[in-house]
Amino acid sequence: MIVSRLETGKIRELKAACGCLFSEAAAENESFLDSLDVDMVKRAYRRNARVHHPDMNRDTVVKDVTSDRFLAIKRSYEVLVNYLEGLKPATDVALSRGKIIAIGGAKGGIGKSIIAANLGIYLASLGLKTVLVDLDLGGSNLHLYLGYRFLLRNSINDFLKKRVGSLSDVMVETPHGPILIGGDSSELGSANIDFMKKVKLIKAINAIEADCVLLDLGGDVSYNILDFFLQADHGIVVTTRDSAAYIGAYHFLKAAIYRKLNRLTGVEARSAGGRKDIALEKYIHDATMSESGSKTINELIDSVRDECPQYLAAIMKAVWEFNPYLVVNRVPQGVRPEEVAGKIQTVAKKWLARDVRLLGSIGRHVDVERSAIDLVPAITRNQRGSFAAEIAAIGDRLVTGK
Ligand SMILES: Nc1ncnc2c1ncn2[C@@H]1O[C@H](COP(=O)(O)OP(=O)(O)OP(=O)(O)O)[C@@H](O)[C@H]1O
Ligand SMILES: [Mg+2]
Repeated sequence: MIVSRLETGKIRELKAACGCLFSEAAAENESFLDSLDVDMVKRAYRRNARVHHPDMNRDTVVKDVTSDRFLAIKRSYEVLVNYLEGLKPATDVALSRGKIIAIGGAKGGIGKSIIAANLGIYLASLGLKTVLVDLDLGGSNLHLYLGYRFLLRNSINDFLKKRVGSLSDVMVETPHGPILIGGDSSELGSANIDFMKKVKLIKAINAIEADCVLLDLGGDVSYNILDFFLQADHGIVVTTRDSAAYIGAYHFLKAAIYRKLNRLTGVEARSAGGRKDIALEKYIHDATMSESGSKTINELIDSVRDECPQYLAAIMKAVWEFNPYLVVNRVPQGVRPEEVAGKIQTVAKKWLARDVRLLGSIGRHVDVERSAIDLVPAITRNQRGSFAAEIAAIGDRLVTGK
């Protein structure tokens, strides 16, 4: 599947080229361009050139007319071939920071899974080997958004419960491009994974051989979800313009950075070969989780600088390496996503000392609502629609880092 985002001017140019090389009816047929390939264009060019090449006519008047016509045919050929060549998956595409992308947000129903599914389809269309992982262990539904009405034969539970040996045993090829590791929340206890299982799962996810691994997270700030999020190279926090969603998004960011700091000395650090440091552990715990209220990150850094400078470098590193993105979803017409993001960015700057970048925004689309009912991914159904363009813009920024 190839997703393309075209401006109106470009579409007009392509249609005119189809009209010239094929027919006016072909130019007006929306799906004709999608069905076109380079061979068809070459054959049409040869067919037209045989009739309209200036050398085919001796009469100079006719020669002039055919010469104009021939130039138009040649130009149409170039326009269409350049377009089709440009659609070929680029094999050297790679994500800017690293392969793992996590999609979180401290609220249900804000579009995390919809974005994960469609972004995965877009990234796969760029030629990236993309694996989608349903890590909403208590509310798995990513498979639905990829067209699977029924439970998958195998799920991530089989890996966690040791019924299979590896995550690759539960991978399913989807018809839309990405590979899926689906979940099954109908199994009792599927959401309650203990520490060892979480560590095993994170290790296995890191080892997935792919260009891109997208994690669809559940909508809360439990330690497991925060740890999956912190594991990623690109953390995306989704919000909508609703107060509950953007307040939840900020809470998610705060919980994630505090969790990151606590993990500097917590059991995760020790299991990864780090050393227990009781003084540092107590210091971070008091600063981030004390009954009397937590400090801002800048206050924490200032007090570490004054009271225990030996920890400063480690704490600064953990803070500066926390660079999540925001995506504002389901933006109604007339609402500026920057305004919604701005509310989170202002508080995050003040309390967390981080500039949280707005990675992109997605409007409210009937297509998307429909896709949640008939289970045809919106990006697949309408490759040239505005939802596809918004998802592509987000994917392109992840690839380029710009
Ligand atoms: N851009 C959008 N336009 C219109 N509807 C949307 C959009 N994004 C999401 N939705 C709707 O919101 C519903 C919830 O989306 P989704 O399941 O992706 O949320 P979620 O954040 O993953 O929720 P949960 O945490 O419960 O898994 C979908 O059924 C879909 O209809
Ligand atoms: Mg979801």
